[in-house]
Amino acid sequence: INVLGEWGGELIELPYTRGIDAVYKKAYNEIGSAPETRRGSLRRLLFSKDFLRFLDIHNALTGLIVEKANTFEDFKKKEFDGMWASSLTDATSKGKPDIEAVDLTARIQTLNEVMEVTTKPIIFDADTGGKLEHFIFTVRTLERIGVSAVIIEDKTGLKKNSLLGNEVPQTQETIEEFSKKIKAGKQAHITEDFMIIARIESLILEAGMEDALLRAEKYIEAGADGILIHSRKKEPDEIFEFCEKYNLFKNKKSLFVVPSSYSYVKEKQLIDKGVNVVIYANHLLRAAYPAMMKTAQSILKNQRSFDIEKDLLSIKEILDLIPGTR
Ligand code: SPV
Ligand code: MG
Repeated sequence: INVLGEWGGELIELPYTRGIDAVYKKAYNEIGSAPETRRGSLRRLLFSKDFLRFLDIHNALTGLIVEKANTFEDFKKKEFDGMWASSLTDATSKGKPDIEAVDLTARIQTLNEVMEVTTKPIIFDADTGGKLEHFIFTVRTLERIGVSAVIIEDKTGLKKNSLLGNEVPQTQETIEEFSKKIKAGKQAHITEDFMIIARIESLILEAGMEDALLRAEKYIEAGADGILIHSRKKEPDEIFEFCEKYNLFKNKKSLFVVPSSYSYVKEKQLIDKGVNVVIYANHLLRAAYPAMMKTAQSILKNQRSFDIEKDLLSIKEILDLIPGTR
């Protein structure tokens, strides 16, 4: 105010308008949920921030959690930058195995319910992307509804979850065939916003570091907008080694990781290794299932719900959770 005075200025305080926050939020939500705004938001975030964090979604409620959860630390607000449409948690919440058995129509239905109530960017886990001829249509559909990026993994045949590694038969696609799929996807989408991220399974399937790095180079040449390097080791050593070597690439693209097995590693360590996006791939479903099972068992054991009530949302809280319920 003093400085303003020195400059001949004057502070004008507008009277508070009751409810303005809600009006602003409603307007923002409407803008944010338009497909073109949401689609471009991942590229904008990657451009403006060094590091992004994503969390799994498998229904609208998990979408709302990713949208709203935040903490304050050292006067800084921390939140998730967007949502990971996980094949594992979507399939599991539908009671199906993570083997591409939940078809695209069902996966899109999950996306639609999430998109209806959220605004943050969505990265879609498209498993292997299916046949090249089919992947083109998947890309166009995802782009049209406002998804920001699709990630496809370089496996072929019956896909099994990566965290099973070589405990089950899994086959890696050849570099040539997978590169063709990336190229076809890149030719299929229309906007500059949409991204295709190539996920490398060489470490998962123990094909070696050299193979992983060669694939990263080739997939970028084929047009990939980013690389996801996955690992199922408890220690981050192989991920760190990949990052260090990847950082020397002249034409490197955004680097994504999924620290499910090396979960003790802190985000700061990943940032220091040049990681751009960390995906917490399955944590909301893994949190919900034990809580629900414990509740079901408590009711059976005690023949009433009273004993578990202390662990539950109160009736008032559940009624106030979603605006418009009253
Ligand atoms: C998923 O969340 O479906 C993933 C990550 O693809 S993983 O389960 O680690 O394969
Ligand atoms: Mg998956």
